[in-house]
Amino acid sequence: MEFESPLNRFSIDRASQYEGQSIRLYGWVANKRSSGKVKFLILRDGTGFMQGVLFKGETDPESFEKFEELKQESSLVVEGVIKKEPRSVGGYELGVQKIHIVDVGEDNYPIQPKEHGVDFLLDQRHLWLRSKKQNALLRIRSEAISASRNFFDSHGFTMMDSPIFTPNACEGTTTLFEVNYFDDKAYLSQSGQLYGEAGAMAFGKTYVFSPAFRAEKSKTRKHLTEFWMIEPEIAFCSMTQAMEVAEAYVKAVFESVLKNRKTELEALERDPEVLKRVIETPFPRMTYDEAVAFLQKKGFEFPWGEDFGAPHETALGEGQSAPTFITHFPTEMKGFYFKKDPTNPKVILGFDLIAPDGYGEIIGGSEREADLKTLLENVEHHNLPKEAFNWYFDLRRYGSVPHSGFGLGLERLVTWIAGTEHVREAIPFPRMLNRISP
Ligand code: 4AD
Ligand code: MG
Repeated sequence: MEFESPLNRFSIDRASQYEGQSIRLYGWVANKRSSGKVKFLILRDGTGFMQGVLFKGETDPESFEKFEELKQESSLVVEGVIKKEPRSVGGYELGVQKIHIVDVGEDNYPIQPKEHGVDFLLDQRHLWLRSKKQNALLRIRSEAISASRNFFDSHGFTMMDSPIFTPNACEGTTTLFEVNYFDDKAYLSQSGQLYGEAGAMAFGKTYVFSPAFRAEKSKTRKHLTEFWMIEPEIAFCSMTQAMEVAEAYVKAVFESVLKNRKTELEALERDPEVLKRVIETPFPRMTYDEAVAFLQKKGFEFPWGEDFGAPHETALGEGQSAPTFITHFPTEMKGFYFKKDPTNPKVILGFDLIAPDGYGEIIGGSEREADLKTLLENVEHHNLPKEAFNWYFDLRRYGSVPHSGFGLGLERLVTWIAGTEHVREAIPFPRMLNRISP
């Protein structure tokens, strides 16, 4: 059969626009059941799920028979009329007139409508993407990406791509992935930031949107070895101004998901009120010192100079409806590029954004060291190879300006928005300590 143009065919997520109209639905069978004269198909087309109803006498008799052949995940084109049906998922259903089977498929689709273990499901990730919650999560991810791009594009940022093969570390040498590069070695990028800084001097305001790689040996709900980061970098910008950008940006993504991904939030049983509160609440701010005092008061034995672990992050976000900015971390804790606080060089002008409910650090950012001499000292202090950073030092040699930026971890943001447990489901094909397949 001839398919209608993909550019203007019906899709389930836009069903309300087609009420009363005859349409063709291009999709797959998620489930089916029958009771004599009425047969029900749960159809999915990738944008949502919809019930199709076949009535003896109303549906084409041949199609009514063909129903029996259909299996879970049979592909098909269904002709019918869109009807309002408040009792049905999504509020609409399809009065089926005709079924064209495209591929009936094999028996025993591996993922059945029952509980499966998560390891099994991750092995079946290529198929698991079709399941309702996974599909909803990844549609929220897609929305978060376009909302991110819209936010920065509409505020005059130029998007810039950074390389994946890099000659030097950005975020410490312990999590580097080393790869052969002809007769030499290279590292997979841990962050596009250093290139973003070159971009800031070229474009004023820029952002990198790229995969990042970290040889993280930790098996936590927040760590992937390959994840995606959105990294704005801004010339003529202080730490506080970068924090203002970060807050407006996170809120813009939440607004966009609330507006355009209602059905998906519903599929994930995520209360939209939780998202609304993030938009309405000014993000609280505290310094590292204040955070340490807060933790100690709560009974944690937490020495100054240590990094927050998961239990600390959870405690810091407890009872909050919005994420918390923590600023002015100890200098020794952070990387070579952070600018020290001129009034107290023991701490840096850097910030983390910690999400509530244990979702942890969503953003890390800072003002960057803009002075060549200090930067050279920092590189030495961190035992990093100076030659590899020569190009980066040039940014301080020619028209250096105060500049700031941050990196947001997309999977952590999506996990938090969706209210799911683990970052592994917020990326289509997760890479972790023990998994690089499928
Ligand atoms: O705090 P990080 O390491 O900061 C940087 O890489 C900076 N260079 C960013 C910048 O200023 N341009 O990482 C930024 C964010 C974290 O807050 C977290 O959300 C995410 O990236 N992230 C991870 N997400 C998943 N798995 C991991 N292993 C992650 N490591 C960091
Ligand atoms: Mg960080």
